[in-house]
Amino acid sequence: MLIALGVTGGIGAYKAVEVARGLQKRGHEVVAVMTPSATRFVGAITFEAITKRRVITDQFEPGANADIEHIALASTIDLLVIAPATANLIGKLANGIADDFLSTLYLATRAPVLIAPAMNTQMFAHEAVRRNLETLEARGVRFVDPGEGYLACGWIGKGRLAEPDDIVAAAEAILRPAGPLRDRRVLVTAGPTYEDFDPVRYIGNRSSGRMGFAIAAEAARRGAEVTLVAGPTTIETPAVNEVVRVRGATEMHRAVLARADRMHVVVMAAAVADYAPAERASRKLHKDDDTMTLVLKKTPDILADLGKRRAASSEGPLLVGFAAETEDVVAHATAKRARKHADLMVANDVSRSDAGFEVEDNAVTIVGPSGVESLPLQSKARVASAILDRVEQLLVRGVRL
Ligand code: C5P
Repeated sequence: MLIALGVTGGIGAYKAVEVARGLQKRGHEVVAVMTPSATRFVGAITFEAITKRRVITDQFEPGANADIEHIALASTIDLLVIAPATANLIGKLANGIADDFLSTLYLATRAPVLIAPAMNTQMFAHEAVRRNLETLEARGVRFVDPGEGYLACGWIGKGRLAEPDDIVAAAEAILRPAGPLRDRRVLVTAGPTYEDFDPVRYIGNRSSGRMGFAIAAEAARRGAEVTLVAGPTTIETPAVNEVVRVRGATEMHRAVLARADRMHVVVMAAAVADYAPAERASRKLHKDDDTMTLVLKKTPDILADLGKRRAASSEGPLLVGFAAETEDVVAHATAKRARKHADLMVANDVSRSDAGFEVEDNAVTIVGPSGVESLPLQSKARVASAILDRVEQLLVRGVRL
């Protein structure tokens, strides 16, 4: 989700860097909005490097289309977090004063707002500040209370910015109702595998990794601890807990099997090669003859291996497989689900040009314990969401936990 992180000019501004990182680790995109005084505590370049986005520091930046930018951002963010929030900013928000980008954004957005106040103890206790906080609270703004302790100004008392982890947790609690995937460990494979047969050539396939990446991102959004095992892809990996890069099917097999036991869910969205060259030449093969024969041997079937272990001991992670088919899609997927002992099999008709490989959309049929369900053509993000809805239903029913 997209979160605007407002940073105001308090000594705790440096802690907002950790808040930005924490939010990103949970799979969110962050756009930092700094008040002019915040930039005197921490450089905008720090937030730019972390968020990989332009940092908004001024309402009227030349060339930034400034007069509408706050409206554009206001309507796209899912949450506005302000940490630290000074007494000054809290006063402005409570009274509808919009004299900089952040206070204007507050008025313009309908996204939920989370504020982490930070100020001197006496200021925090002042009647004016208390009234402003109550006004905001009555308006539905949520707060992460400051901590007690030794303040930078030398006072001891309440006013220190809450810990970044607590601010991130509060943001998460607002964004994500605590669903069944929360804190579950999910492994997702994505992309193709490349099977080398000499130092410069390989056998690969057209998988882009988008579907698996969308599932990994959505699982992270739902609070799961996500490991992504990705074959060679060129698209940017989502922010998840662990990314393991692999090339061939055997390497992917090793990476998945080494981690599968501690997972609650394994989603095999990768297009793993079924066959790989039996031998890999140490030198580039030359075109001496008119024809050339490559001997292929079967690769280990990762999903089937996990399924076998589960079928034998009825333990192990909930398994989701993908079936890329060009004909009799549902029949093949149903048979594959039984053969590989998967809980869900997501059937993909890769003969369609508007869905499947290399495009943004997908139309899938999900084969599960309670039957067959066809979903309409939609974005891979929505398909990911639909698949994880089914996974969550199975987790709730206790199928594999
Ligand atoms: O049998 P088929 O390759 O069509 O099955 C596809 C499903 O099995 C996918 O989920 C894919 O990731 C997985 N698979 C695997 N190991 C292989 C081949 C496919 O885990 N060697």
